[in-house]
Amino acid sequence: MTAPNAPKRLYLETWGCQMNVYDSERMRDLLAPLGYAASDTPEGADLVILNTCHIREKATEKVYSEIGRLRKLKDEKAKAGGRMTLAVAGCVAQAEGAEIMARAPAVDLVFGPQAIHKLPEMIATAHRAAGERLETAFEAEAKFDALPDERIVDGPSAFLSVQEGCDKFCTFCVVPYTRGAEYSRSVDAIVAEARRLAAKGVRDITLLGQNVNAFHGIGPDGQVWNLAQLLRHLSLIGGVERLRYTTSHPREMDDDLIAAHADTPAVMPYLHLPVQAGSDRILKAMNRKHTAAEYLAIVEKLRAARADIALASDFIVGFPGETERDFENTMALVRAANYAQAYSFKYSRRPGTPAAEMHGQVAPEVADDRLQRLQALLLEQRRAFNAGQVGRRLPVLFDRPGRKPGQVQGRSPYQQSVHIEGPQSLIGRIAEVEITAATDNSLTGALVPAQAAA
Ligand code: SAH
Ligand code: SF4
Ligand code: F3S
Repeated sequence: MTAPNAPKRLYLETWGCQMNVYDSERMRDLLAPLGYAASDTPEGADLVILNTCHIREKATEKVYSEIGRLRKLKDEKAKAGGRMTLAVAGCVAQAEGAEIMARAPAVDLVFGPQAIHKLPEMIATAHRAAGERLETAFEAEAKFDALPDERIVDGPSAFLSVQEGCDKFCTFCVVPYTRGAEYSRSVDAIVAEARRLAAKGVRDITLLGQNVNAFHGIGPDGQVWNLAQLLRHLSLIGGVERLRYTTSHPREMDDDLIAAHADTPAVMPYLHLPVQAGSDRILKAMNRKHTAAEYLAIVEKLRAARADIALASDFIVGFPGETERDFENTMALVRAANYAQAYSFKYSRRPGTPAAEMHGQVAPEVADDRLQRLQALLLEQRRAFNAGQVGRRLPVLFDRPGRKPGQVQGRSPYQQSVHIEGPQSLIGRIAEVEITAATDNSLTGALVPAQAAA
């Protein structure tokens, strides 16, 4: 029998975007005072939380197969006289809550992204009536207000959610349905959280939001602040040396935000600005509300503000109605924009979204072929970007031990992994590194020896 004060074991599995990573971290923070310690494996855990993603069909399928695997562990624990509580959180929970309850009786509770703050209360009632096991109301404000101030910090880099939800309704996307309407936190709440992170040694903060550059939070002056104002304000916090934000929508990339890349050194020269496609016809069908030329004009302005900016993007190939010619336009846009990093996906039909009902669904083998061609081009660009750093000196924020003894690993301003031989005492600090070699996914280099001031 376990002693009443014995630590309880929590196993958290996270899929999807950084917002889910943030939510998982906050669930861990919420549960720590209740005696839950995070564990790396589900075997024997007292509480298992699956923080799920609904963005593509595959992401959703994984959840059901994982529930099947965990059910066995839960049964084993029950046979041994113990209890494993199994919770499904995140976007699948939000979208298919009732279905999960019906299909998977092993699941004790289901709650959406806006209900994570109610977790302690939900665990307490998990073994009561079935009706109380489903919590999928949208209450972004209540969520952020109710999360604990205390955050467990894992290193010098941290995520900070500033905005949640999406009102854009791209025709392929489930996010507006799983995360609800756009909501921005107040500047004061964000600053307070950033200060606490900085006090714990965080040097690099990534502001998160499904539409982070649509941020419009109430400032300390009672006015609505935009993301550029927020970034400039956060850059004044002692210890905060690097700021990033993700993910941005091209429509919200205003001149003030572009200017912040030039006037605020803490704003890193890296931007994830998904475009999805390069054909105006497809962009229109996607409801992206901009053209390829408008996107490229933003890229040009960004490069004028910060010549070395590393651009990243997301792409969907095989959107309904996409012809070879449309796809060629995507390839042309990629050549013109020149990306340092990118994520590309085959279109996945999501029931309930407008695109799911559109004519001209593209055959899987056609989409496969396009995806391969696109990925080959994106890889070529990433290689060239990485190779272009060789011979340069870059300030690297070291955040973890390297793979081999005697190595440390960190991030360049462009978000590349950098490996060097060096002391572990570098972790948590920024130091100059001379880049000597590049691979597809990382850079290696040597610490620049301390130099006398010129
Ligand atoms: N808010 C972000 C994207 C969130 S989803 C934005 O607007 O850019 C992350 C990525 O998943 C998207 O950029 C898109 O490329 C991809 N995605 C979303 N729905 C998809 C679908 N139905 N099929 C394939 N990829 C999809
Ligand atoms: Fe989805 Fe579009 Fe909103 Fe991004 S902007 S989350 S792709 S609906
Ligand atoms: Fe997935 Fe939800 Fe994020 S659907 S991508 S976890 S907002």
